[in-house]
Amino acid sequence: MESSIGNKFTDAVEFKVRSTANTNVVYFNGQLLALKEDSPPYAMDPVTLETKGLYDFEGQLPSLTFTAHPKFDPVTGEMVCFGYEARGDGTPDVCYYSVSPTGKFTEVVWLVAPVVAMIHDFAVTDNWVSEPVPRSVRGSTLTPNVDTTLFGGHAPSRRQSGRCEGMAVSRPPSGVTGSSNPMQWFQYKNSFPGHTANAYEDEQGHLVIDLGLSEKNVFFWWPDAQGSAPEPSSIVSQLVRFTIDPQSEKRALSKPEILQHGNSEFYRIDDRFATCPYRHCYFDLMDPQLGTDLERIGPKLGGGFPLYNAVAHFDNVTGETEVYFPGDVHLVQEPVFLPRKDSTTEGDGYILVLVNNYETMASELHLLDTRDFTRAQAKILLPVRLRQGLHGSWVDGRDLNP
Ligand SMILES: [Fe+2]
Repeated sequence: MESSIGNKFTDAVEFKVRSTANTNVVYFNGQLLALKEDSPPYAMDPVTLETKGLYDFEGQLPSLTFTAHPKFDPVTGEMVCFGYEARGDGTPDVCYYSVSPTGKFTEVVWLVAPVVAMIHDFAVTDNWVSEPVPRSVRGSTLTPNVDTTLFGGHAPSRRQSGRCEGMAVSRPPSGVTGSSNPMQWFQYKNSFPGHTANAYEDEQGHLVIDLGLSEKNVFFWWPDAQGSAPEPSSIVSQLVRFTIDPQSEKRALSKPEILQHGNSEFYRIDDRFATCPYRHCYFDLMDPQLGTDLERIGPKLGGGFPLYNAVAHFDNVTGETEVYFPGDVHLVQEPVFLPRKDSTTEGDGYILVLVNNYETMASELHLLDTRDFTRAQAKILLPVRLRQGLHGSWVDGRDLNP
């Protein structure tokens, strides 16, 4: 179903239920939560996949919105979340909250952002939460545009002369409630922050935030206020690292380090190392040199997302990249990491990735072993074609409590 973000004219049930729950799905405290960032989650039974309904955590959810990218602290078991436009369409309010492993809200912090802007993903460390906000010098980038909304388009509108800002909020120790958290704003030049790979604090207490960054509007289907948008094939996103001193008075962020120069997005890690220093990152890559026959499959693509033709593994220690190329008529969706049974070593396991075969026009699941990354161990040929999609999660059957 076509559903725009933050546009009540494209609600799943007009003016009543906004969410189509079509962005991400996560497992938490015995339930699957299907997410779209302008709405509360939909709860689902993790065994039967039965939809239970919109879920407000037994009345605890303080915000009208809930990010599609909650983070899970592997040490405390908390789910750390936020919502933007948290008091309704076009409001500058951001609500950040932590939920204990048993579903109790332990921390709720209301913030007022200087601009209203789309905040799709964020970063969490032991002591800080950071929200990359794309905004423009005047007005905001990816900010709700009422005129566009009224005409039924996507709510966000992006202007070109913008800049990327980051909001860092201190995070209290697990179980501590009601603190008044300091908030810091940092700014970077015009750019588009993509998905977060991981974040952690280094020995100096600086925030290390790895994410995708593009100089162009990755959401090319949302043109700027003048109606212009980049040509999709010209958009390049790279995995970069911002290092931020949260106590610094300096507001301008230094240029990030480019960790991996390829055109990439949809970064995933071994989630057991989320919020911690980590070594391995897995993501989608577009490398025309790999030999994808775009001329042949182009007419079948049907537009949509930026295209990625391979899955990559970047090693933060060696700086090396391994690439899995699924075939010349194939494109990939987001990978997910599965730990090897009973192994606790970071990155020891498997990559599962949904692959679109544009020759058969059916979808395939390819399984890679991280010990032998460049070839598939198994291919599951699905009898259907799944649409080009976004995010997903792996849930170990042993973690279910039906
Ligand atoms: Fe996303």
